[in-house]
This record gives sequence, structure tokens and C-alpha cells, in this order.
Amino acid sequence: PPLSRILSLRDIEDVARQVLSYKAFAYYSSAADDELTHQENIRAFSRFFFHPRVMRPISQCDPSTTILGFKSSIPVFVSGAALARLGHPLGEINITRGCARTGIIQMVSSNASLSYAQIAEARMHPSQPLFFQLYKHRDNKIAEQRVREVIELGYNAIFLTVDAVVAGNRERDIRAPFELEEQEREAEKADEAKSGAQAAADKPAKQGSKDGEDVNLLGTAGALVANDDLDLTWEKTIPWLRSITKLPIVIKGIQSVQDAVLAAEAGVDGILISNHGGRQLEYALPCIEVLYRLRKQRPDVFDKMEVYIDGGARRGTDVLKALCLGAKAVGMGRPFLYAQSAYGEEGVVRAVDILNREIVRGMRLLGVQNVNQLVPEMASFPPSVFY
Ligand code: FNR
Repeated sequence: PPLSRILSLRDIEDVARQVLSYKAFAYYSSAADDELTHQENIRAFSRFFFHPRVMRPISQCDPSTTILGFKSSIPVFVSGAALARLGHPLGEINITRGCARTGIIQMVSSNASLSYAQIAEARMHPSQPLFFQLYKHRDNKIAEQRVREVIELGYNAIFLTVDAVVAGNRERDIRAPFELEEQEREAEKADEAKSGAQAAADKPAKQGSKDGEDVNLLGTAGALVANDDLDLTWEKTIPWLRSITKLPIVIKGIQSVQDAVLAAEAGVDGILISNHGGRQLEYALPCIEVLYRLRKQRPDVFDKMEVYIDGGARRGTDVLKALCLGAKAVGMGRPFLYAQSAYGEEGVVRAVDILNREIVRGMRLLGVQNVNQLVPEMASFPPSVFY
């Protein structure tokens, strides 16, 4: 269907399900074990209801915010997700360009399917921010090289992923034979029809550990994280990272109030409350529930660092609920993979436009005209009569 008929992120997902190969859709959509945490990530948002305020000025409504000091047109960012080229030959670059055009920020995965340089070069203006998601290699030297590379390329923050030291058990993904090589062959054929510079930008990167054989033996995800450090610790890893970069550091994959407090004590710039889109520990709590508990038990943490969440957010109202509960912004992974798979760069632009409209409408109906007016009193569990 034409983009003009795409009204919601769910519409985009439906198209992606049709246009992606069975195997690519399995890799993108899959989650751990019986996929209950993934389903709960989505469902948990529906357990929170609004307490809208009325008769307040809302004609001037500004949904913009900052993330680590960088301006964002809406309180949404792209969470780093691997292998965008599985869905479209331009892969991650579709997201870079879509983000530039709509004013939101892309977090680039350590396991991106284009080189970090190719993605950096795709920025549409020199000040376009880019965040980098770090899987720390078990060899500190190799890990440091990766960080130095992205610093030199002008990336603006490091999101250290801590919830995936071993890969989750994603059975749908494991069952579907990996298909990147085949897709790359197709992409190369398409390259031949294109002119030089563009074709070079489309070339797959040889980085990370995506060798075809490993992948076939271990399943996609298993091979992608095979070289990771199993011993990430507060004592070692954060001081190490701090010693090699002045960039803001955000811990991605916080799943408990206790660890949120430890992160604040470690002096990092932010945390991303996340269970990796339900792809890691099955039965990890949905992210909005962890956020709710943190807000209730340790409101002081929100003054010390920025708190974000990701996992299961699909609507403007999901984003607004998270902001009411204290989140600074909300990440989305699959929706942007699907958008660029189905419609390339234009799909990413459409997805952000949809979210922008949903967020502004929601803010006006809640009686707020900027994101600072979204407060905990505006979102709660439903009246007990529902339970
Ligand atoms: C991911 N995610 C992820 N996270 C990360 O830190 N590094 C990575 O390489 C990847 N790769 C990846 C691939 C795919 C296909 C998915 C779906 C997810 C997790 C991602 O950053 C984010 O936490 C979730 O995608 C958020 O959940 P939703 O928005 O997809 O429901």
C-alpha cells in the first residue's frame, strides 16, 4: 500500500511482515523462549491510564526535548538494532537520513550491517547527532579500538549494552536459516545498476563477527555476540569506559531498581531501562513496570541522570505514559527496522511523522503544552474495579 495509507506503526509492521522474507521477519520479530516478555512489553503499556487535565492552554504545543543535551523533535529515539540491511539494501542509512529529516536521534548498533564510517558519512548535516551502542569485546584492546573509531567518526554518546552477555534463546530465529549472505548477493546485483558513490555506500561492512559459518551453526544472535565480555562489572567496566572516552555514557539494559541506583552511584549520564525487546531473559519485567517501580521507590535517581526506556512502545500514548512516569525519552527498535524494510528512508520519515502527530494530539488532550508538564499524577494503574 502507498505510504499515505499507513496510519500507525502497526500498519507498517503489517507491511513489513509481507515484504520481508520469512527468515528476516523471524530475526527481527523474534524474542526469547515463548516471547512472553516481548508480549508483556507491549501489553504493560495498556495497564496504565491517563488522568487528563482540561481547560488549560494547549494551542502552542511543543513535543520536543533534549537527550543528553541533544535536541530531539519528539521524545523518541531509534534504539540500536542489528542488521538493518536484512530488510533493505540501504539499511542503517535509511534510518540516518530519516532521522535527519525528522529531527530525532539514531543509536547505531555494534552489529550494524554497514560500517560505522558509512553511517557517519550519511549524516545530512555535520551537527546531526549519532549515538553508538557498544557491545564490549572481551579483549579490552579490541573494545577500545571500537570506541576510539566511533569517537573519531564524531559519534556523540556510548550506550553500553549490559543485558546480552550471552544471547537469549530465540527459537523462531534459530529455526529460520540465516539469510544475510543471500540478501547481500541481491544487494550487490542492485549495486551494479547504480552509480559509483551510492554503490560504495551500499557495500556491506566486514565488522563484528558475522561470518556466515558461525551464524549457521549458532543461530543469528548467538554468533553476533560470541566475542563479548562475559564479565561486565560496575567495578571494572565503567571506569575502563570512562578512562577512554569523555562522551556521555548510558547503560542499556537496566532491569531493576537496584541496578538503576548502582548506575546513578557509578556516575553515568543515563540509563536505558530495557530488556532488549524481550530477546534476552524471558520473564524479565516489562520496561514500563520497572520505570514505575523506580519512580515510586527512588525518585531521587531521576535527578542524577537521564532515564530512558525501550521495548514495546508503539504509540504516542505509550511515549507519553513513560514521560509521565519520569522517562526523558523512549527508544524503539523493531518499528524502525520494519519502517525502513518496507519503505526505505520514506518509511522512517512516515513513522516519525505518525508518532509526532500522536504525541502532539495526546499532549493537547492531556492538557499540556510541553513535555515538562507531563507528571506522575497524570498516569496510573486503572481503578481497581478492573481487577
Ligand atoms: C535488537 N536490540 C539490540 N540491542 C543492542 O543493544 N544491540 C543490538 O545489536 C541489538 N540488536 C537488535 C536486533 C533486533 C532485530 C531487535 C528487534 C532488537 C534491542 C534493541 O536495541 C531494543 O532494546 C529493542 O528493540 C526495543 O524493543 P522494541 O522497540 O523492538 O519492542
